[in-house]
Amino acid sequence: VEVDASWRNARKIPETLFGVFFEEINHAGAGGLWAELARSYLSVVLWCGVKGNWKITNGFEAGGPHTPSNIDPWGIIGAKSCINVMTEQASYFKRNNVALRMEVLCDRPAVGIFNPGFWGMNIEEGKMYKLVMYIRSKDSVQLTAKLTCSETSGQLQSLASASTQGIVMSNWTKVELQLLAHGTCRTSRLELKTSKKGVIWLDQVSLMPSDTYKGHGFRKELMHMILELKPRFLRFPGGCFVEGNRLRNAFKWKETVGPWEERPGHYGDVWNYWTDDGLGYYELLQANFEDLGADPVWVVNAGISHTDYTNNTSITPFVKDAIDSLEFAKGSPKSTWGSIRAAMGHPDPFPVKFIAIGNENCRLKQIYQGHYMLFYKAIRGAYPDIQFISNCDGLNGQLDHPADFYDVHIYGNATELFVKKDMFYTASRTGPKAFVSEYAARNGKSATLFASLAEAAFLITLERNSDVVQMASYAPLFVNDNDRNWLPDAIVFNSWQQYGTPSYWVQTFFSESSGSVLHPITIRSSYSGSLASSAITWRDTEKSFLRVKVVNFGPHVVNLTVAVNGLQAGVNTTKSAVSILSSSNAMNENSFSSPNNVVPVTRALPHAGKEMQVLLAPYSLTSFD
Ligand code: AHR
Repeated sequence: VEVDASWRNARKIPETLFGVFFEEINHAGAGGLWAELARSYLSVVLWCGVKGNWKITNGFEAGGPHTPSNIDPWGIIGAKSCINVMTEQASYFKRNNVALRMEVLCDRPAVGIFNPGFWGMNIEEGKMYKLVMYIRSKDSVQLTAKLTCSETSGQLQSLASASTQGIVMSNWTKVELQLLAHGTCRTSRLELKTSKKGVIWLDQVSLMPSDTYKGHGFRKELMHMILELKPRFLRFPGGCFVEGNRLRNAFKWKETVGPWEERPGHYGDVWNYWTDDGLGYYELLQANFEDLGADPVWVVNAGISHTDYTNNTSITPFVKDAIDSLEFAKGSPKSTWGSIRAAMGHPDPFPVKFIAIGNENCRLKQIYQGHYMLFYKAIRGAYPDIQFISNCDGLNGQLDHPADFYDVHIYGNATELFVKKDMFYTASRTGPKAFVSEYAARNGKSATLFASLAEAAFLITLERNSDVVQMASYAPLFVNDNDRNWLPDAIVFNSWQQYGTPSYWVQTFFSESSGSVLHPITIRSSYSGSLASSAITWRDTEKSFLRVKVVNFGPHVVNLTVAVNGLQAGVNTTKSAVSILSSSNAMNENSFSSPNNVVPVTRALPHAGKEMQVLLAPYSLTSFD
């Protein structure tokens, strides 16, 4: 391996090269990154052989706006003779007008309802949980909220409890209770019980842990895993989620901003589950700018879903939605939409720079291009600094519409991806740049080291072609193991655990690539067909290093001499280290029981020099600093 580490032939890698793609798929948000514990909908059910969904928001919109309807996933506690529960169109909230009516017929024993959370709530000893609910009753309300554990069979163990004060709430009243847990249980539930006869209406129930990331509502451990990747951008909120199977079920940002209680939530009909939209447009902008230090890549619906689309004459509301979304993010706090952002606590604008018009919509080329131009003209006029991402293919020819980027999605099995990586060497060097907003080595069955190494080779090729590929993100980022829509994914979690797949760990090798300097590298080996390599240097006030990465995508040990020429003064070689991602079997994976089966191992490299002898393990990614 020969590295030309001089500045002569070096080139800066774009600041934006590696980021992440957050889509509401696999419960990435609802029941995932968004820390809300009270589950507000029933997941996919099979009914008469048809995939369907009964939904309720944090409120009780089970079975749609018509009442009485289903109250799932809530359940009833108590005998039928003592409690009567039904939904009614009685809510205070206009957009979620279905509330729960609980008629209590006996004074004892206590009866009520419970929420099972997302496959169990993770309640941890010493932590505080904030319960918010809206209550109405003609009588004084003595309601006890309890977090109980169902781990032990038989009696439910109480972990925390708090009660309302027995006051009359003849108008809808927001009630907040703090629940301090004195025990830990991963499969807890929330119970709301009373032992007093009367009728109580309930709506918009939320249970949040008090220790969310920066108080922004994100599950801390999952946020830390994203932070570890140092993403330079976050593309959101989809994916197919943005499109919908039907336009009527597509993501509508205006219904995801403002107070959470007023958000109607919506049924994501591509991934078949209901989201309460607590994690809305505002929260995702905040995640970008305040939590991750990333640039948002905002994907808007182009008036096209998987099965229907608007024509050019009825596209106007979609274009207006996009313009309004930019006013919400970037507009003055006095503007119509900017004032809503300000009221939510962010008077300063979120300086959004990238907008993607649609997702995978260029399959309807004529229609898409017509729509795209209408978005383009309107947005360019109002926000000339915004960069546009088109869904059409600019790799194999020039786009026939103006754009800054074209979106490329690349999935294939590991061997295919390893071959496909080379496609960028022949891509046009003029015109818009490529944004590989989705890629993964995929067989739909497993998340192996083998697959991740194909991705590593792919990312190395992106670094080397970063004059044309200027942004890239793996897909999907998250999966809740209890309800997978897609496999593989980078981060797997349940109510209380999480681990990175080998694909996640591969991405950590690239966390310092964006904004670094790329150097020419050549490999001469009889195994060069299964090797991929790159060399970068990083220099800032805190650290400086030359990093050589080599993927061995073959079954042999490869013996190499690494020779570095022209290393610049100031690049630190005294703290050299080698990091290796490998395993005894290339088909190995990680799991909840063995989360560290395939993780990088780093050790000091005491004899690093301008020339050194190295052995690459079979099926491995090695990085020398
Ligand atoms: O990443 C999963 C899905 O794959 C995305 O929603 C879609 O854009 C692509 O087809």
